[in-house]
Order: sequence, then C-alpha cells, then structure tokens
Amino acid sequence: MCGIVGYIGYREAFPILIKGLYHLEYRGYDSAGIALINSNGGMNIYKTKGRVSELEEFCKNHDVSGTIGIAHTRWATHGEPNNINAHPHYSESKNLALIHNGIIENYTVLKKQLIQNGYHFQSNTDTEVLVQLIEYIKELNNVDLCTAVQLALGQVIGAYAIVVMEKGQNDRFIAARKSSPLVLGIGKDEFFIASDASPIIEYTNKVIYLEDEEIAIVHRHESPKIVTIGNIEKTREIIQLEISLSQLEKGGYPHFMLKEIFEQPQTLRDCMRGRVDITCNNVVLSGIIDNKKQFCDAKRIIILACGTSWHAGLIGEYLLEEFCRIPVEVEYSSEFRYRNPVIYPDDAVIAISQSGETADTLAAIDLARKAGAFVYGICNVVGSSIARNTHSGSYTHVGPEIGVASTKAFTAQLIVLAMMSLCIAREKKTVTEERFLKLLKELDRIPDKVEQILRTDESIKNLSEIFTYAHNFIYLGRGYNYPVALEGALKLKEISYIHAEGYPAAEMKHGPIALIDSEMPVVAIATDNGMYDKVISNIQEIKARNGRIIAIVSENDTAMKDIADYVIEIPATEDCFDPLLTIIPLQLLSYHIAVTKRRDVDRPRNLAKSVTVE
Ligand code: G6P
Repeated sequence: MCGIVGYIGYREAFPILIKGLYHLEYRGYDSAGIALINSNGGMNIYKTKGRVSELEEFCKNHDVSGTIGIAHTRWATHGEPNNINAHPHYSESKNLALIHNGIIENYTVLKKQLIQNGYHFQSNTDTEVLVQLIEYIKELNNVDLCTAVQLALGQVIGAYAIVVMEKGQNDRFIAARKSSPLVLGIGKDEFFIASDASPIIEYTNKVIYLEDEEIAIVHRHESPKIVTIGNIEKTREIIQLEISLSQLEKGGYPHFMLKEIFEQPQTLRDCMRGRVDITCNNVVLSGIIDNKKQFCDAKRIIILACGTSWHAGLIGEYLLEEFCRIPVEVEYSSEFRYRNPVIYPDDAVIAISQSGETADTLAAIDLARKAGAFVYGICNVVGSSIARNTHSGSYTHVGPEIGVASTKAFTAQLIVLAMMSLCIAREKKTVTEERFLKLLKELDRIPDKVEQILRTDESIKNLSEIFTYAHNFIYLGRGYNYPVALEGALKLKEISYIHAEGYPAAEMKHGPIALIDSEMPVVAIATDNGMYDKVISNIQEIKARNGRIIAIVSENDTAMKDIADYVIEIPATEDCFDPLLTIIPLQLLSYHIAVTKRRDVDRPRNLAKSVTVE
C-alpha cells in the first residue's frame, strides 16, 4: 500500500504533489510527507503523522518552492505511524531523499551491514535502509545515482516502487519498481510519477506503466529513459488513458462510497455493454470466446482472491457449478500461495481483484502459472499488474473505485462471473437454450432493479439510526445469499467498526445461536427463492430467542411481516442473480450506520484500498 507521487516540470511542484496525495490517500493515510528541491538546489523535507490535510497545513509556514518534488502517503508496515517513520526518508548525508511503497524483506541484514559501516538510523522503517544503501554504494563506488540505485536494488529482496531525488540535482529523479505499481505520466515539458494514474490524469493522459525491475530516469529536458536493474535499455509503449478527472471526484455526494453505491445501475450497464446482447440473444465475452477450450476442457476451476473479491468468488463458485457443471474451489490467495496446493495443467484459474495489485493474489497467480495452469483475470484497473500477469481476462469497467469499502466493483465482478458462466454453459451445452435466454433477459434487467432498490435509501437510512447502539451484528443467508451475508458483515465492520459475522443461516444452531438475545440485530436475507422456506425456519429459531430481525425480502412477501421486526423489500429475480440485488440494501445499511457513528467512511482506520504488501 502507500501512495507515491513525483513531479518535475515547469510548474510549482507542491500543489501538484499535495493534490496527488489526496487522490492516493485510499492507499494509506497514517502519515504523509514531501520533499522539494528549490531553485538553488536545496532540498526541503516535511513530514507529519496523520492525513494529507495535516501535512498541507504544516507546510503553510515553510518554504515549499521548487519545480521538482516527491511525496508519500503511508500505510505503516515497519514502524509505528509517526513523523520520523513517515516518508520521504533521507540518507546519512541528507543528500538523497526517497519514497517507497512495498516491503524490503532483508532489511535487517542490510541495516546491520550499514551500521557496521558507520551509518546511523533515525526511523524503524525498512525504507530508510534502502536510501542509506543507495548512498553507501554511490560513495563507495563513486558512481552516479542511477548506477547506485541499480546496484542497491540488486541486493534487495522484497517489493518496491521507489522514487529518489538528490540534493543539488533539480533536473532529475529516478524511479524503480518491483511488485508494486508505478505509472509514469508524460506531459509537455513535464513528467509525473505515481502509484496510479489518479494524480496524473488532470495534466496528461499519456502514461507508461513500468514493468518489474525497471528503472526510469526522468530528466527535466529529455524523454524519460527506461533501463532494467541489469542496465538493459527498454522501450515502453506510451498508453492513452481513458479515465477523466470527474470520474475521480465525488460529484455532489458526501462520500465516494455513497457515490459508488449509487453509480451501480450505470456501472452494471457499462460492464454488460457490448457483451450482453438481448436482441441477438447472446453473451459475447471475448476473453472467454478466445479461450473457450481452456474453460470447456477444464477439470476444475480455482478462484483466487482476497477480501470482497473473495466473496464474489464464492458466488462465482455457485454460478459456475450450477451452469457449467465444473467443480470449483475458491481460495484465499494468501493461503493458497503458501500451502503447496495441488494445481494441474488442465485447471483453469480465475483471479479476481478490483485493484489488480493485491500482492497475495499476484503471488498466487505466479504459483498457478508456474504449475502450468491457465489464468484468467477479472480486474477493474486497466493495465494493472494482475491484468498484465494473467493469460487473458475481462475488465469490470466500473471506473475508479475510491471508497476503501468495495461496492460497485463487487457487483460488476458478479456480473462478469455471471456472463462467464452463461458463455461457458452455452458452449458446453450444460444449460438449455430456453433457460439461457431467460437468464440473459433477466441479467439485462438487473440495473433497473438496482435502481429501484436505491430509491428506498431514505427508509434504510431511518432504519440505520435505530441500530447504531449495537456492538454486534449477525448476517444470515443461504445458497447464493450466503456469500452476500459474509459481504454484508464485512461492509459493516470495515466502515463502522461494529463487530459483525456472516453465517449460512442453517449453521446458526451449531453454535452462534448462543449469541442471540434481545440486543442482537440479525440481518436475514430471505428472498423468494428456492431456499425461502428453509430460511424462514431459521429465522423463526432466532425469533424464538428474541433476536431483532431485519429481513431482506422480495416484493409482496407477506409471511415475513409477522416474523421480522423490520422488512426491506427488493424486486424478485432469478436465484442466481439475487446477490446483485440483496447486497444493495446491505451496502446502504452499513454506509448509514457508519455515517451516524461519525466514522471516516471513505478512509476507515487501519485499512487501505490496495493491499500491495503480503
Ligand atoms: C483490501 C480492500 C478491499 C478489497 C481487498 C482485495 O482489503 O480494502 O476492499 O476487497 O483489498 O482487493 P482487490 O483489489 O484484490 O479486489
């Protein structure tokens, strides 16, 4: 995690860097810092604990001049969040300043060697080791900064995206990456570097995505030069980005999360555009069509993901097994990568990731590829590491998701999984044509139904006010709605800090029912599907123990009104598409509870949007 941004050009760097940090705050926000080289070659470094706004405030009374600078917003890994551990870090002589996203795994060994060579450390971070090492190598070998960076990175084990500047050198910075993202923005007589394109897009849409072990030497008056750590020169394609600045802004909503929840009818339409064609009765998912053999012949599908994407994967399991009759295993990437899993060359692996940068998922993909499996990515961020490290894939096309709690990316992941399942099932003839067409038509109606649910926002807001007292919540669902219960609970705990657990409703009697008393709110998903009667029985068991029940039901449900304390109605749909609708009131409920509790909804404590460390 951590966000990094750098600028060199003809404008003052400070406002560009601060604005860039605000865009990157979703990557971490426990401290922030900036380094600028002024026109005399002097370097000023300012760092503060806390949010970017605190850094901006602090800098008001300081010299922030300079047309070259680097800045960082941190999500702590090594060393507590404080001013000293904040980036940029500087070298012994204070000549070099460096920002870093990632983890240097062998930092203790390197640190020991540097201390033996007379180096002193201010912070507890792994990053300070790197900047000291670069300086040590530079002085020892009397080489230029780029060579010193190459030699230092040759000794480093771990993940990094770094940018380094040198006092007295206001014409150049050097950036490098391995396993952490880095984008170079190419403007007219100005250059940008950042963890993603959000700090850059206001100024240029021309970018280069650096590859692993590549170093960019960015000079004020020259085209950027890209070399590898081993000093092989590279030519990288300049890509034209299609996102706009307005997509990155709140558009009148108080929080990105609410904006993103309300964008869902549109993002789902965008995700299906050109893919679901109800006039021709077809689903065209080019990645699947081009690789249909890999899926149709697969003996097994393994889904790899983390967090909310893992919940989407669980629903993918139900969809793929029901329609394509292929056994599916859903794995946490972080477990899969370290447990010596059995992977066959005829397995098809699906990696799901909004950011496309989650370190554990990247490593799990690597493992699957080495074992010879075909790997398909479902990512949102175009050009992200996972998108580039998979054999093929489908983008979700929902635009930037800024709120740390994932909402619109989740529903689009479900739509992609549904389209994939229908596409493969038709190819394999595991669904009848009649059923296929019925499902296709219903899929096309989902965005309108989501829109209808969003109109009930006010009543969900009122409901949320009743439950802000609660310290615990239980979410229940069965079948397709069991993973939705997990996701609903995750949404609540992420942003409101209320403890919440999701359970398959029938499992309650095997332990969790002991938690039920008149204080315990239970959110039960009881829509009109194949599991309805079963869920009703499970809810009765909770009612008998005085639990307070909020039920998500289908329109025109009559039975639940007598059982549940509160009822939220949603339109009916096919069982398999239920999660696309049932998750919407749960997203809204979490959002409003968190707002009532005055939580920082878009930037909840201890979390980050993009987890680029393991
Ligand atoms: C973090 C985010 C979650 C996200 C998870 C996986 O924990 O806060 O919202 O679901 O990472 O991220 P990915 O980008 O791989 O979907």
